[in-house]
Amino acid sequence: MEKPSFTIPKVRLNSAAGALVMPVIGLGTSADPLDEVVMKAAVIEGLRLGYRQFDTASKYGSEVPLGEAIDEALGLGIVRSREELFVTSKLWCSDSHADRVVPALKESLRKLGLEYLDLYLVHWPISCKPGPDVHHVDEEDLMPMDFESVWGAMEECQRLGLTKSIGVSNFTCKKLGTILIFATIPPSVNQVEMNPVWQQKKGRTGGPTWSWRTRPSIQEIAEARGKSVAQVCLRWIYEQGATAVVKSFNKGRMRENLGIFDWELSEDELERIGRIPQKRMLPKEKFVSPTGPYKSLDELWDGEF
Ligand SMILES: NC(=O)c1ccc[n+]([C@@H]2O[C@H](COP(=O)([O-])OP(=O)(O)OC[C@H]3O[C@@H](n4cnc5c(N)ncnc54)[C@H](OP(=O)(O)O)[C@@H]3O)[C@@H](O)[C@H]2O)c1
Repeated sequence: MEKPSFTIPKVRLNSAAGALVMPVIGLGTSADPLDEVVMKAAVIEGLRLGYRQFDTASKYGSEVPLGEAIDEALGLGIVRSREELFVTSKLWCSDSHADRVVPALKESLRKLGLEYLDLYLVHWPISCKPGPDVHHVDEEDLMPMDFESVWGAMEECQRLGLTKSIGVSNFTCKKLGTILIFATIPPSVNQVEMNPVWQQKKGRTGGPTWSWRTRPSIQEIAEARGKSVAQVCLRWIYEQGATAVVKSFNKGRMRENLGIFDWELSEDELERIGRIPQKRMLPKEKFVSPTGPYKSLDELWDGEF
């Protein structure tokens, strides 16, 4: 059994039955185009380094190579058992219809070669007409999501034991509030964009997060501390009490992104980061359409942009 280079701290998820803990840093698997061979090798390397949380989605096309990498790592003894891992996947908009949710999760599990997920997320708060090409969403296919029935089916996924926990992604406070009206299992995570340039000052919920971008103050802090810009951003996210999903398929950068647990940002540095002008980096205009449920970015993000 190989010893990982890093032990990543964990947080407890609040709605899961039993003691479900999530490592505070996970490896993202979204890339365009996705080179499955590179990704698979990166996941195996990531497992050697100590990554135990992996973020995929039916939309990313990365479920098969992620599953193969996990299987290989188990065979090589890099990981002792499936239970050591935290695997997240997501329900795509074309499957965000009550009768399609359980079959979509079963299909994700088939591709991953796993019996259960640790976390299953509603990828976006919008549905679209089911079609053969999941990677393409036509404007005229956008339709409102029936939050109550889709969330009911997500709860069914957890009850069936197909996933240990359920959550949402790209939901605003308002849309989360709608789910909470009828949820019998509240979302344990809201995976959203979060970085020093989009700090989620309103919507912070402690869910996982992705992305980091730079501004001069981050660059200056990084230089003064002898850290990389990525490390300053990730440390900032960690200190906010959030967890992060970071994509790198490069061994050096995967290692670098874990080097955030043995130092802290000062009050002054936190204050400077807090003053960075805010701008959502991924507004997702493609979900806004005159014929769809969201006619403006304001409606999609309920003013949070
Ligand atoms: N729920 C959602 O809707 C949603 C949306 C977007 C993303 N995500 C998740 O979040 C993950 C990350 O997404 P993202 O948008 O933050 O990242 P991204 O834009 O996909 O990738 C970040 C880029 O930064 C590079 N990088 C990583 N570490 C670095 C470092 N230390 N120094 C310099 N460059 C570095 C990576 O390149 P190398 O590989 O060459 O290092 C990568 O190309 C995704 O893979 C996905 O799992 C979820």
